[in-house]
Amino acid sequence: MYPTRRMRRLRRREFQPLFVEHETMKHHLVAPIFIDESVQGRREISSMPGQYRYSPAEVGDVAGMLLEKGIRASILFGVPSEKCEDARTAYTPEGVIQKAVRSIKDAAPEMVVFTDVCACEYTPHGHCGIVGETRFGRDLLNDPSLEVMDRIAVSHAEAGADIVAPSCMLDGAVKSIRHALDREGFEMTPIMSYSSKFASALYSPFREAADSCFTFGDRSTYQINPANGREALLESRLDMAEGADILMVKPAGYYLDILASVKELGIPVAVFQVSGEYAMIKAAAANGWIDEKKVVFESLLCMRRAGADLLITYFAEEAAGWLHG
Ligand code: PBG
Ligand code: ZN
Repeated sequence: MYPTRRMRRLRRREFQPLFVEHETMKHHLVAPIFIDESVQGRREISSMPGQYRYSPAEVGDVAGMLLEKGIRASILFGVPSEKCEDARTAYTPEGVIQKAVRSIKDAAPEMVVFTDVCACEYTPHGHCGIVGETRFGRDLLNDPSLEVMDRIAVSHAEAGADIVAPSCMLDGAVKSIRHALDREGFEMTPIMSYSSKFASALYSPFREAADSCFTFGDRSTYQINPANGREALLESRLDMAEGADILMVKPAGYYLDILASVKELGIPVAVFQVSGEYAMIKAAAANGWIDEKKVVFESLLCMRRAGADLLITYFAEEAAGWLHG
């Protein structure tokens, strides 16, 4: 008995483009940019070949160049010259991100600027907020840290950021930031929450890039255990209820099941292909073991297929060279 459905009929070469279900376009890309207050010009990040830390003055030109290549959005990470327990350098008007946002908005006003709202680059211990003694030992203090997040978010909005993106994984951060922004007249500034963020081993190149290695413990008391999918979905659902405009799944490639279920919540979803995912592809490609362009293309396409609206990726600039629109 021959099968009546021959799947190969429609796979004839000239038919293939007619039946493409998903596409990656340039306008889906968001380029992460590191800005370092104590760098002159730019400095390459050794764990992330092809990625740089830029000075706040230089970053305007970088944004202009990205825009010319068709990348409409970027997300900023700051490396301050001074760290302190209360993370106050994260919310001064003269802070590294605040300067960078102004520099981008001067040079390339149409560039959509997302800012990462977190304290880990600004604290000496490298945790994502205020740390203190708890009944269970030294840990990130949830509620006292919320006020810091509010201040950071408001100061970014005041500097001209288009969308603020809390990545701290503190309970209640989205609601708290939403109220703070509204109080200060930024009721139209959207919040993209790093809502389903896992305690992943894939962030280590970033920690070198952003100079945010923690000095004790780990992030497992606030980020999600990679074993827990239901919990990750609940995190996104809670952030949506607190007023998040965009949700996020992070990392990307190993978490596409989470992405597909978060997509079902009905609001836009971003996915973050993180530093470790970038570094693994770069290293294999540098050894000639994989075809970099094909692997990057496939990785981004599969994120789209799983439901991502926005693709935050260190390959943004490279991919813009060979994607449409
Ligand atoms: C900070 C933050 C991290 C990343 C984005 N924001 C690191 C972390 O949580 O340890 C990871 C990005 C990457 O690895 O590319 N809250
Ligand atoms: Zn953090």
